[in-house]
Amino acid sequence: MISPIVRASRRKFLQFLATSPVFASGALSAFAAEGPTAPDKLPDPIIWAPLKTEELIKNPKEAINVFDFEPVARMKVPPAHFGYMASGIDDEVTLRANREGFLKFQLRPRRLNDVSKVDMTIELFGAKYDSPIFVCPTGGNKFFHPDGEVAVAKAARVGNHLQILSTSSNDSVEDVTRARGAPIWFQLYASPKWEVAQALIKRAEAAGCPVLAVTTDRVGGRNQETLFRLMREDTRDCSSCHDRTSFANRALRRHNYHGIDLSSITGSGESSNLSWETVKRMRDITKMKIVLKGILTTEDAELAVQNGIDGILVSNHGGRGEDSGRSTIDALPEIIATVNGRMPVIVDSGFRRGTDVVKALAMGAQAVGIGRPYLWGLGAFGQEGVERVLELVRTETRAAMQQCGVRSVKELNPSFVRRAT
Ligand SMILES: Cc1cc2nc3c(=O)[nH]c(=O)nc-3n(C[C@H](O)[C@H](O)[C@H](O)COP(=O)(O)O)c2cc1C
Repeated sequence: MISPIVRASRRKFLQFLATSPVFASGALSAFAAEGPTAPDKLPDPIIWAPLKTEELIKNPKEAINVFDFEPVARMKVPPAHFGYMASGIDDEVTLRANREGFLKFQLRPRRLNDVSKVDMTIELFGAKYDSPIFVCPTGGNKFFHPDGEVAVAKAARVGNHLQILSTSSNDSVEDVTRARGAPIWFQLYASPKWEVAQALIKRAEAAGCPVLAVTTDRVGGRNQETLFRLMREDTRDCSSCHDRTSFANRALRRHNYHGIDLSSITGSGESSNLSWETVKRMRDITKMKIVLKGILTTEDAELAVQNGIDGILVSNHGGRGEDSGRSTIDALPEIIATVNGRMPVIVDSGFRRGTDVVKALAMGAQAVGIGRPYLWGLGAFGQEGVERVLELVRTETRAAMQQCGVRSVKELNPSFVRRAT
């Protein structure tokens, strides 16, 4: 029997978590409820951990799962920068759906296969990687650690992960490619001006990128409420680093834009005029493979095939695009069914656990991307933090594959996953 004091302090802790948009979920709010229905034994293992979550780990090796890095990053990263990373949109229902979506699907583990040797390697567009876990493009990594995208690249190199670099990175595509020691993919924000897209494409191709991941889901404004609230907590003088007077000035610390005329871009530079016609123009000027990032429906998946696209990254931008409320693990099966093997389909948004990864691979995704977890690692401990985050996801994925009785990524198929009833 648990004492009322322990129960009260636990409830207080859960209430704190439930009010945080990052942690809040319907289930958690229910557990945090006052009254006789609050259970004695709670299912979440973190409940037995120290209540000061920022003291969970002192170094990357102590981390038990990727979540252990987030409170440390919250402590070390300036509030506005942490808010930029953590934020979803509006009510953040998509952000939460990305995690809760995994509960809609269950694994069907098979037994009595010899899984003493597991091959996690994959091949994408002719390149081999040691695991199906890739590093998503995220802008401005120096917001989280001075070593920025170069540190992420060095960590990705250790585990031979695919890295996709953001257009809005602080470090340049050339420096990051050098640090990664192998070709990386380039994520493109086309901007409203064709000449800017064209110049970025040429630069990425010249840097040796084999694949252009065109982001299709940032075409409108967004209300990043968590960001805006945490900005108010930040007492530093932001104007010394951020010159928001024009797009060109905002891009000064984004090295991929250097040398490109941005003077005609007004406002925040979203690619609102992006269309299938624009993508066709891209096809005509580059030999890089083109992957569309942000496709979420069967209709657009079919159009991607018809337009000669090479691959799809099923993504909702980690709940940062629109607050649709739909997770990517929910959208993935319809895309896989439509594409029907005609091009590779990869996925991101909300992936944190090896079992999350295995569910998507079983559905037919060829690789799975993580975003915020490696930024937690970066913000908490720099390159070593990113290395450990990637190692944890790999270790969990390997264990989940073994427990499912599969020896290679290729052996996973839809029979290993079912929709919960
Ligand atoms: C701080 C931050 C910055 C991001 N910047 C970009 C970007 O520049 N380009 C892009 O296509 N996606 C960007 N994304 C989205 C990621 O590529 C990816 O889709 C998302 O983070 C995956 O969800 P997760 O964070 O839940 O793992 C960003 C995400 C975060 C958290």
